[in-house]
Amino acid sequence: MRVVVTGGAGYIGSHLVARLVEQGDEVTVVDNGRTGHPEALAPFAGVDWVALDVSERDALAALLRARGIQAVYHFAAWSLVAESMSDPLRYYRNNVAGTEALLSAMVAAGVRDCIFSSTAAVYGAAGLEPLTEDQPCAPTNPYGETKLAIERMLAWAWRAYGIRSVSLRYFNAAGAHDRWPIGEDHRPETHLLPTLLGHLARGEATPVSVYGTDYPTPDGTAIRDYIHVMDLAEVHVRALAWLQDQAGAYAFNVGSGCGYSVRDVIRTVERVTGRTLIVREGPRRPGDPPHLVAAIDAAGRELGWRPQHSDLEFIVDTAWAWHRAHPHGYDPV
Ligand SMILES: NC(=O)c1ccc[n+]([C@@H]2O[C@H](COP(=O)([O-])OP(=O)(O)OC[C@H]3O[C@@H](n4cnc5c(N)ncnc54)[C@H](O)[C@@H]3O)[C@@H](O)[C@H]2O)c1
Repeated sequence: MRVVVTGGAGYIGSHLVARLVEQGDEVTVVDNGRTGHPEALAPFAGVDWVALDVSERDALAALLRARGIQAVYHFAAWSLVAESMSDPLRYYRNNVAGTEALLSAMVAAGVRDCIFSSTAAVYGAAGLEPLTEDQPCAPTNPYGETKLAIERMLAWAWRAYGIRSVSLRYFNAAGAHDRWPIGEDHRPETHLLPTLLGHLARGEATPVSVYGTDYPTPDGTAIRDYIHVMDLAEVHVRALAWLQDQAGAYAFNVGSGCGYSVRDVIRTVERVTGRTLIVREGPRRPGDPPHLVAAIDAAGRELGWRPQHSDLEFIVDTAWAWHRAHPHGYDPV
């Protein structure tokens, strides 16, 4: 297939690029390079990176037409929760207005299919566990609001223009590729695992903060669902294949369906790396739910997808291999 991956120079997008290259797709990456890395695409010789912002509607429409693009995987977004709280309009502009421009370009060029990177943040503080797709969405931050707004935009785009879509609500993406030299490099890094592994890889004795040790969970720390980034890449491919026989706009949770506590993660990091972390316990952070685990039956049933790589040990193992080889991330400083 001939596909566009927006945000393909980023963490998750580059892992999808690897998967698409392996199946022989013709891949064009559209990425403005603001949080992505050229090195994340360096291993993939046949992949073309077009340095374009998704808000450039006309240039995008021309590109989609010129290359005969059949489908779009849409990852391009800002995704720092705290930053979205302090500068929400920047998030509405890039995520929501950017997607409006992308969809308009798709309509103009007659491209009908879109797989969209949504997030568990659309659920907000959440209700019942494990979380199913029919639970109410009530985001607690602008980042989650922008993703929910896009899901709704996609639903209307189906009705009005016949754009078919699958929104994949990712839980915590983690790990690195086990064969290609690509991994996780956000700046600033706000995720637990790459933060810990980055410190260890650089030999820094920075204490690890654990926010909340009095949650109603077995060890008192918060529980999250970690999904290996290669499993995430796979579900995108399955979603696009499934969409070929559908009519509408759909949303699925994509997680491992398993919960690990912060202490589980710390213990696994210590075991895999053979190092000891300095742990500092602190109070809960406002708005952090105690337990967030995905129900993944719908994706299993409809898309025929099951996580294969999301055992915590394998997640940490692959991430550690990448961090050891890239202690300062993609561009050494
Ligand atoms: N990492 C996670 O755990 C996680 C969880 C839930 C959802 N998501 C979503 O998955 C997607 C990818 O996340 P990631 O962790 O790979 O992030 P990332 O920052 O590594 O990748 C995002 C990419 O999009 C590009 N980009 C941003 N705005 C753009 C624009 N207007 N035009 C063109 N390119 C643009 C960036 O340069 C970057 O390469 C995002 O939409 C994010 O919200 C991520």
